[in-house]
Amino acid sequence: MSRSNWAKVDIQTVPNIIVNPPGPNSKAMHTRAARYMKGYSSQVRLFPVAFEKGHGVTLTDVDGNTYIDFSSGIYVTGLGHCHPKVTEAVQKAAGELMNAHDFTTPIKMRLLEKLASIVPGEAAKKLTGMQFYDSGTAAVEAGLRVMRVASGKFEFISFHRDFHGKTLGAVGLARMDVSQGLRAPGFFLVPRGYCYRCEFHQTYPQCNLMCVDYIRTVLKEETSGRVAGIVLEPVQGWAGSIIPPDGWIQKIRALCDEFGLLLFADEVLTCMARTGKMFAMQHWDTVPDVMTLGKGFGNGFPVTAMLVAEKHKEAIEKISASTSYGGNPMACAAALASIEVIEEEDLCQRSLHLGELLMQRMRLMQEQYPIIGEVRGLGCLLGIELVKDRTTKEPFEQAGQLVYQKAFAKGLAWIPAGHILRMSPPMIMDDEVALKGLSIIEEAIAETQKELL
Ligand SMILES: Cc1ncc(COP(=O)(O)O)c(C=O)c1O
Repeated sequence: MSRSNWAKVDIQTVPNIIVNPPGPNSKAMHTRAARYMKGYSSQVRLFPVAFEKGHGVTLTDVDGNTYIDFSSGIYVTGLGHCHPKVTEAVQKAAGELMNAHDFTTPIKMRLLEKLASIVPGEAAKKLTGMQFYDSGTAAVEAGLRVMRVASGKFEFISFHRDFHGKTLGAVGLARMDVSQGLRAPGFFLVPRGYCYRCEFHQTYPQCNLMCVDYIRTVLKEETSGRVAGIVLEPVQGWAGSIIPPDGWIQKIRALCDEFGLLLFADEVLTCMARTGKMFAMQHWDTVPDVMTLGKGFGNGFPVTAMLVAEKHKEAIEKISASTSYGGNPMACAAALASIEVIEEEDLCQRSLHLGELLMQRMRLMQEQYPIIGEVRGLGCLLGIELVKDRTTKEPFEQAGQLVYQKAFAKGLAWIPAGHILRMSPPMIMDDEVALKGLSIIEEAIAETQKELL
């Protein structure tokens, strides 16, 4: 395993909180920005800090406080902030050619060939039809369009609490904010393989994955029979790092094959070593028909992709690949450099190692703190679920909020999700730094438990 030294930090000096955050500069800057910028995420509303710099595994705010990064800029900068190889590649491209529509450029050609060499699938199943976009949600929309063309059908099945983006098609696949109106027709949501809170009140594996069998009922009783396919997040990110039980993905693939449905794996969040494999579906040896990539794909540069199996190449030809920015030279340079770094630094292995290290400690924490209902992780995608009572499993939202704020104030930049604490440290993080980050969370949990129970 070779990892470069550029991002090494002295464990004695991080985090470094010199002014109680959010400090005066953060507060003043955020107030000025918030005069115009509307609709902040809960992450920002709960901790309105203003960031100035990122280097490797740390972030520095405008008051000079330095934090350990347990968020990777919301699952994006898995190779660390400003990885020199990625930064250099983007700078070089920006000096040569910034945009060329969907014309071929040398760097795009190299990225396409690199991706083709790493995507899963054999022969007709290989994901070699490719288009580039500039946001995850745009790639998801392209995936839905290609499914409609390939199948000649127009209905979709997706899963409770999955998240696929914020454009109209993508929101139809997920839980809707009711204030924004109704879900478009043709979208059907079904329970997910979330064993800690099984909607069928079953126990795995005795349940035989009844949740997948239930999709048969939905196909028969709820849809018009014109279902293009099933869309899923291999591991749920937004919902709280929820990992499906073994067999769930494979059983869905089998169901798709039985009914002639396409399987769309939205890997926007899970791709690029985040879960310990280049693509999370590889954990279950399952090849989807359609796959989307984003977030870590460009390690911070907005570049995403929609990939389609070779056998659907006529369908992808029919949906135009041209967008204003998708796959521009800077985007392709960032994505190509990011893939190369993952390979050169063996970051899939690193992700698995770091994930297991953190999980060992999280399991001990679970024994010690009754407000921890479940701990889970796959590679560097981890979650801790807080409950009021382990028997009733009632979600402990107030605790989630407090732990988030307390840990942030102690120097950990990370992501809340209601009662679930989400963690996605950069895969380049050293063991000691990762354990220090987790000990900040532990301290915050201990204090919160004392205050609230
Ligand atoms: C699984 C998944 N799909 C799609 C999206 C949308 O990506 P973007 O925010 O880049 O539009 C997200 C964003 O969080 C996501 O997690």
